[in-house]
Amino acid sequence: ASVSLWGGRFTGGPAPELQALSQSTHFDWRLAAYDIAGSRAHARVLHRAALLDDDELTGMLDALDRLEADVESGVFLPELGDEDVHTALERGLIERAGDELGGKLRAGRSRNDQIATQVRLYLRQNARTIAQQVVTVADELIAQAQAAGEAVMPGRTHLQHAQPVLLAHHLLAHVWPLLRDVDRLIDWDVRAARSPYGSGALAGSSLGLDPAAVAAELGFDGPVENSIDGTAARDVVAEFAFVAAMIGVDLSRLSEEIIAWNTKEFGFVRLDDAWSTGSSIMPQKKNPDIAELARGKSGRLIGDLTGLMATLKGLPLAYNRDLQEDKEPVFDQVDTLTVLLPAFAGMVRTLTFDTDRMAELAPQGFSLATDVAEWLVRSGVPFRVAHEVAGACVRVCEERGIELWDLSDADLAAISSHLTPGVREVLTVEGSVASRDGVGGTAPQRVAEQLEAAKERATEY
Ligand code: ARG
Repeated sequence: ASVSLWGGRFTGGPAPELQALSQSTHFDWRLAAYDIAGSRAHARVLHRAALLDDDELTGMLDALDRLEADVESGVFLPELGDEDVHTALERGLIERAGDELGGKLRAGRSRNDQIATQVRLYLRQNARTIAQQVVTVADELIAQAQAAGEAVMPGRTHLQHAQPVLLAHHLLAHVWPLLRDVDRLIDWDVRAARSPYGSGALAGSSLGLDPAAVAAELGFDGPVENSIDGTAARDVVAEFAFVAAMIGVDLSRLSEEIIAWNTKEFGFVRLDDAWSTGSSIMPQKKNPDIAELARGKSGRLIGDLTGLMATLKGLPLAYNRDLQEDKEPVFDQVDTLTVLLPAFAGMVRTLTFDTDRMAELAPQGFSLATDVAEWLVRSGVPFRVAHEVAGACVRVCEERGIELWDLSDADLAAISSHLTPGVREVLTVEGSVASRDGVGGTAPQRVAEQLEAAKERATEY
């Protein structure tokens, strides 16, 4: 038999079309365990407020235990008449505890404070899993950076050869944003750790219930300060959605590089067979599908955030049914990231870099021109002049189809009297990277320190 939570003032049931529109059990059923946990805590505060006697509390908790077991085993499922997870579980409770006892649990709470609390519980738990998975991706990148040693590669800006860098330096440049994403989830949890339970529909409860006790039982730091805010605000959900989208963007940036590096033209990286796919028609193909899916799914993760923000914009206080639309976007993000991150970690772990190819390309495209300019500066030439002189070297080389290190002593002297043969010490990739030895720079010693710092940071989580 279907149990309505609001039938009293109505003359009949809802139109089937309304029911079809309104129903949310196909997505909010995943909150069932949190709803039951909230019900247990609520039963205890009702008991403390003398609204349930000892026997009633025992009976209620027993019925909730049996309901939980039946939900877990799949014996109890939502039915067509159940509007949402809360309605379905109230029906399940009444079926187990009887009309009279089962009907007592709803006192002093509303689906408005229940759902606001349950979304936080769900996201807090899943944020921990996602954070661990992100740390694993960072760990795999750190391991690759360690294995890369002092291997060099062409560093780029505007996708053009810019300056040589260590491969390890480049890989670590993807680690730090991921670790910041983990930091963001940890920071976010401070704000997510307030419980809206006890806010009721919007104004709080008159029944002497103890929101702090419920909050503590559910693992929150405390209750929300304002019951209207507690039921109406979803900024905590939106902030989670931003971090999830940001993780997607950070994976996508690396994906784009892996996809390019894996082409014949770059030839920087090879993907392991188990972590790439073939083509149904072209027998030679080996495709970077994990990276492409990561890049593609970042669009979806951003869409989830954007849709949620649009839903929240312009909502008056307090609860509005629009807020039912807050869940699917973040559920989709959780599902997307929890399946994407382990695959991504495996792909990173099994990448093989062609460091010879990278080293060969590192000095090309006149990527040592800045080194010439900075060498001149170190010998007292103003940078404006140094930049001109180094630019002239590039022009001469381009005209003659040669590289900077092919310029003879006479060529150098003809370009500028400042260009003594000593400049050759920076006309090698090794000399170039070694000279960039400021903090955060690409000199091997600095990168080694950075690697240790990243490792230490990653083990702190
Ligand atoms: N299912 C709703 C949601 O997800 C919670 C129920 C609140 N409904 C209501 N009529 N006040 O937001």
